[in-house]
Amino acid sequence: MPEPPIAPPSSNLQRKTTINGKYAPVPPVCIVTGGTGFVGCRLVEMLVERGAKKVISFDVVPPPPDAWKHPNIEWRVGDITDKKAVDELLSTPQVGCVWHNAAAVGPYHPRDLYFKVNYEGTLNIIDSAKKHGINKIVFSSSPSTRFTGEDVDGLTEDEMPKLPLGRYMQTYAETKALGEMAISNACTNEFMTVAVAPHQVYGPRDNLFLPNLMEAALSGKLRIFGSGENRICFTHVDNYCHGLIIAEKALYPNSPALGKFYIVTDGTTHPEGNQYLNFWRILDEAVIGMGAKSLWSKAHLPKGLLLVVAFFCDLMGKMFGVTFKLNTFSVIVLTMHRWFDISAAEKDLGFKPIIDFREGWDETIVWFRENWLPTNGVGKGMLAGIAKSTQAKIDIQDKSAKMVG
Ligand SMILES: NC(=O)c1ccc[n+]([C@@H]2O[C@H](COP(=O)([O-])OP(=O)(O)OC[C@H]3O[C@@H](n4cnc5c(N)ncnc54)[C@H](O)[C@@H]3O)[C@@H](O)[C@H]2O)c1
Repeated sequence: MPEPPIAPPSSNLQRKTTINGKYAPVPPVCIVTGGTGFVGCRLVEMLVERGAKKVISFDVVPPPPDAWKHPNIEWRVGDITDKKAVDELLSTPQVGCVWHNAAAVGPYHPRDLYFKVNYEGTLNIIDSAKKHGINKIVFSSSPSTRFTGEDVDGLTEDEMPKLPLGRYMQTYAETKALGEMAISNACTNEFMTVAVAPHQVYGPRDNLFLPNLMEAALSGKLRIFGSGENRICFTHVDNYCHGLIIAEKALYPNSPALGKFYIVTDGTTHPEGNQYLNFWRILDEAVIGMGAKSLWSKAHLPKGLLLVVAFFCDLMGKMFGVTFKLNTFSVIVLTMHRWFDISAAEKDLGFKPIIDFREGWDETIVWFRENWLPTNGVGKGMLAGIAKSTQAKIDIQDKSAKMVG
């Protein structure tokens, strides 16, 4: 067997996993919206590594300078809120599946942008796919669509609240839920869809989760919220992309996966065979790995106090249009249990993590120390200011939305 092509920006672990793994073939022609994002970029790469002949990435943000220049990849710059551009994209002949992954992600965008991109953009993808006879869509969703602020301590998808919720904790979650419901409602035996969500994606080239927390840690101001004993699950970016890729195979008439929502994580490769880890202890490994002082050597911030400060930050944010890292949502999510039982994805999609948590996390810390720290590691504090890489992307996404109108 010839060795698969390997994306040059891959880490050693990603290379090893690609070379040693045995993966089912993927459709020859694939479309990935949001293909220059953290997840989308790796998804484009993994589709090509698994044999796709043509993958079109469609994203408002142009590919980064180190993006894989492979003849099977087209990096197209475009906006999913632009109906005409979406129609042109989906008129590509012989598309086997659309991985709809583009979204306004994180808490930092203007409110109307979330509706425009995450909901209306998704409607554009559905309408245009139907028009052009494309019959498979895999949608990237989020477990936060089901968060109410209560602990999620090892629930399955069926045990979580059903959509729509009466009240969402964030506009991001609300609009991802609207998008997911539209995708699920459109599903039939002829037009097949499925939603797959990760939880807390990490890995090399992450531009949101670790950069923001590491900048706060390096400023010396990050503290453990509450007791610091909350249980959380993580998803290595390759495990998520693997879940998204194999979900396409579960799209066939009368499949149990049709129109459903699945969560994929690092599963039982989390410490001690559990499906969770201790968030603040694991995060502390990265903090120490960046050369900062252990969070456990400092006083914790009581949850009650944080909620009061967060309330005022929310208020000021609304009044002055400022983005605060500390807000009610961040306090709740950083103190609650958030982990899932992924047995449904194992059963219906045949999902198993391809990268073990311990190996993936250790390598991610090394990757950040070697690649991110030298140019980005200037701490900014906990209340205001977001990581440089995050802000740069937000600016492009917001500008494009204004241009499309
Ligand atoms: N990272 C996580 O922990 C996480 C957790 C749950 C769900 N998800 C989901 O996974 C998907 C990928 O997230 P990510 O972490 O890679 O975020 P990301 O921000 O890196 O990627 C999203 C991409 O979508 C693009 N995009 C935004 N608006 C667009 C538009 N109008 N037209 C075209 N492209 C547009 C962005 O430019 C970006 O490259 C998202 O759908 C997100 O909701 C991610």
